[in-house]
Amino acid sequence: MKVKAAVVREKGKLAIEELELGKPRMGEVLVKTVAGGICHTDFSTMNLEVPTTLPMVLGHEGVGIVEEVGPGVQDLQPGDHVILSYPSCGCCESCMEGKPYACDRSTELFFFGTYADRGRRLADRDGQEVGSLFGQGSFADHCIVAERNAVKVDPEVDMKALCSLACGVQTGAGAVLNRMKPSAGDSIVIFGCGAVGISAIMAAKLAGCRTVIGVDVVPSRLELALACGATDVINGRECTEIAEEVKRLTGGQGAHFALEAAGVPHLVEQMLQSVRKEGLAVLVSFVSGPVTLDVSMLFIGPCISFAGVVEGNSNPRVFIPKLVEFYKEGRLPIDKLCEYYPFEEIDRAMADARSGKVIKPVLIF
Ligand SMILES: NC(=O)c1ccc[n+]([C@@H]2O[C@H](COP(=O)([O-])OP(=O)(O)OC[C@H]3O[C@@H](n4cnc5c(N)ncnc54)[C@H](O)[C@@H]3O)[C@@H](O)[C@H]2O)c1
Ligand SMILES: [Zn+2]
Ligand SMILES: [Zn+2]
Repeated sequence: MKVKAAVVREKGKLAIEELELGKPRMGEVLVKTVAGGICHTDFSTMNLEVPTTLPMVLGHEGVGIVEEVGPGVQDLQPGDHVILSYPSCGCCESCMEGKPYACDRSTELFFFGTYADRGRRLADRDGQEVGSLFGQGSFADHCIVAERNAVKVDPEVDMKALCSLACGVQTGAGAVLNRMKPSAGDSIVIFGCGAVGISAIMAAKLAGCRTVIGVDVVPSRLELALACGATDVINGRECTEIAEEVKRLTGGQGAHFALEAAGVPHLVEQMLQSVRKEGLAVLVSFVSGPVTLDVSMLFIGPCISFAGVVEGNSNPRVFIPKLVEFYKEGRLPIDKLCEYYPFEEIDRAMADARSGKVIKPVLIF
């Protein structure tokens, strides 16, 4: 079938083109895209900051309606509302253990545009194959995804607000709820109040953290952090000693947990210095340059741990339905992050994400 899709053919450039989309294969479904969120990783791919292959259709926070199911699909049928999350192979040791975020084939399935059978599903009018980011490529009016990474949702919920659950919110909320698992009354500091950071703030509030500190350089994002559950905020442009300020706000001890979701090299050390003895610091961002650290001084004396987290260490088909329930209860107000744009205005949506004007631009099909 013919589809309209946003394709990257060279670094930093995106254009809407007509492409040919194949049929869903074994275990896959064809989805009519309703909306798609823009995530920082779309830019990282477009700018070739991650290992990738071109041409590629971007988009990895799609929501839509199943239109056709391929052979072997067990759980989904036409008409089902689905959130399209990240892919995993289903066969490696991590996948078999229920940890698809640590799949052996993540890099390839996320960024090379191929599906688990190593094939692509899109081609242009010259017959050249085109990749689908994250095994979905949802900046297109239709896309194909594996049943494994399509999460069925309650059709009563307005789907377009749910895009960000697919990646950004799953990452931030999951880093807190799945990896840190704070106890009620714990403290946490979050560097970067974008979609990932703000959802970590919402999750920290859900988990009962007493002190939740948001750090950013954009005043409107700090205001939003306060509206979403932060108890304190620090403007990184005005404060040079962020770790000292975190200690002051946590009774001199430092925070139990810290998250880096800004991608700024010098913040990594600030994050490590912000956690208290035996605390846990988590990195989710793709830091924009090398970081030099005195690891012995930073880690041994204070006995702190440092962890990397992919997609919130979550199993999408288990975790995303929980997030949808929190959203329905008003406890995960992710619609506060969203602004909506017609698909044709993708350039404006991308520009607004880039400038920091909008946290979660959502394309409507
Ligand atoms: N690990 C994963 O699985 C995963 C998943 C999704 C996104 N990510 C990554 O997480 C990061 C955050 O994603 P996002 O979509 O929230 O990005 P974003 O660009 O919306 O948010 C980044 C925030 O950091 C702030 N910031 C920039 N410089 C700062 C500074 N010096 N001090 C404090 N704050 C500063 C920005 O103002 C912005 O609010 C990105 O690197 C993204 O690629 C990782
Ligand atoms: Zn796997
Ligand atoms: Zn993403």
